[in-house]
Amino acid sequence: MGQKNDSIATYDYGIVKMFSVMSIAYAVVGFLVGIILALELAFPELNGGIPYISFGRLRPLHTSAVIFAFGGSVLFATTYYVVQRTCRARLFSDFLSKLTFWGWNLIVVLVVVTYPLGLSQGMEYAEMIWPIDLLIVVVWVAYFINFVGTLAKRKDQHIFVANWFFLAFIITVALLHIINNLAVPVSITASYPVWSGVQSAMIQWWYGHNAVGFFLTAAFLGMMYYFVPKQAERPIYSYRLSIVHFWSLVFLYIWAGPHHLHYTALPDWAGTLGATFSIMLLLPSWGGMINGIMTLSGAWHKLRTDPILRFFIISLSFYGMSTFEGPMMAIKEVNALSHYTDWTVGHVHSGALGWVAMVSFASLYHMIPKLWGTTIHSVKLINLHFWLATVGVVIYIVAMWISGVMQGLMWRAYDDFGNLTYSFAETVAAMHPYYFIRAIGGIVFLLGALVMVYNIYMTISTAKDRPVVAA
Ligand code: HEM
Ligand code: HEM
Repeated sequence: MGQKNDSIATYDYGIVKMFSVMSIAYAVVGFLVGIILALELAFPELNGGIPYISFGRLRPLHTSAVIFAFGGSVLFATTYYVVQRTCRARLFSDFLSKLTFWGWNLIVVLVVVTYPLGLSQGMEYAEMIWPIDLLIVVVWVAYFINFVGTLAKRKDQHIFVANWFFLAFIITVALLHIINNLAVPVSITASYPVWSGVQSAMIQWWYGHNAVGFFLTAAFLGMMYYFVPKQAERPIYSYRLSIVHFWSLVFLYIWAGPHHLHYTALPDWAGTLGATFSIMLLLPSWGGMINGIMTLSGAWHKLRTDPILRFFIISLSFYGMSTFEGPMMAIKEVNALSHYTDWTVGHVHSGALGWVAMVSFASLYHMIPKLWGTTIHSVKLINLHFWLATVGVVIYIVAMWISGVMQGLMWRAYDDFGNLTYSFAETVAAMHPYYFIRAIGGIVFLLGALVMVYNIYMTISTAKDRPVVAA
């Protein structure tokens, strides 16, 4: 771990600051588009007949904004921060750091332009057209070299466990991205994938599931392993468990993709294999959660006064909840009810809002004052953010659970004559109140993020008034 006497001047904190600020901006935009989507589902006429802001075009904009723009920027910021501090070395190359920053933001701009125009590959989470895909490869290779180059410069022989998670994330995302996007271009905006039929579906969900497993999970676990002990001022509960956690998680995740394709043309055995690995995944996932939460043993009292730690603990609790729910949903009988319903959307957001966004907020609150050599402007406002975020997530996911289970049950209800009890339109009408409630949950969550924007703005702009000795 970083030593107390490390000088801020030896590290490249500039790049970490740039990614941190952008991540907060992207969070606000991504949440806002999510709220617009939620409102469009409740009130479909809201798009005013304008194609550029129709649900179908905004939805991938939302998923890319929150996962790649917000999540990606947080990950660039935290990996660059953590790898420097744990290796006690400056980033390998200033040029590559800048290339990743400007390249990544250019990709985001291109996504924001192309999706509303309807330019898409039509593959979920991989909608980017082929020229953007190529740009991603360039940025990602630069990222890999920069990260590994910094590891190679480390002062201790040992590689801190967070960096193992980060490295697995960088390598796996490269593989997923390249293999899923193999395509033959036919024009500057169009291409045909080399995969077809059920192989195409299989590759797409191998990609999609591992985008969850490595982008939204492994990388954020790396953050957890660095920032939770730092914030709690305690060593990790069990270093041995973290190693077992790492190897079992990366080994199991890669097999679980077929659980997205139950009851499709995919051979039954492949679905069963995916479900089996998904159920096994519960163990490493909970091992990681326990390791994070138990790091506080002996320091539980800090939860009363430290809202950043509270953010960490609630994010780990949501991580535990969604990694319990996921394996259950992978069981074919449960999936027969949950698939295609809002239950999946509820599951997604308990992971995305509860785990990914909350652990990111906590890490940013920990890191930003240190980057600017100051203390946070207001601890009370972090507390307010904590409550708004928590209440917002709970409203969101409870609404989706109720609507999802109801939707699944209504679809499968038969009357005494074997006819469907409900028409599809009736099931849509039944969901209306829950869609509205979900939008309210989203608005509350966004309000919390705006409180964060204000608090961070004040922290940075008044940093000189509250100087602290290098952390
Ligand atoms: C204020 C916060 C948010 C709101 C209101 C919101 C709202 C929505 C809505 C309405 C949808 C479409 C659901 C549907 O098609 O039925 C959606 C999808 C999605 N959102 Fe969000 N979202 C928010 C934050 C996030 C965050 C932070 C992430 C990730 C880190 C995220 C990841 C996703 C994903 C992956 C999907 C696709 C789900 C699927 O295909 O099942 N969202 N969101
Ligand atoms: C042990 C861990 C997990 C397992 C086994 C798992 C399993 C599942 C299953 C079975 C589905 C439904 C597939 C379907 O019916 O189409 C699903 C959907 C999803 N899960 Fe998880 N999940 C896990 C953890 C997580 C976490 C922590 C997150 C977020 C950070 C997450 C994000 C998603 C997303 C985005 C989808 C929707 C994909 C789509 O259809 O677009 N999952 N997951």
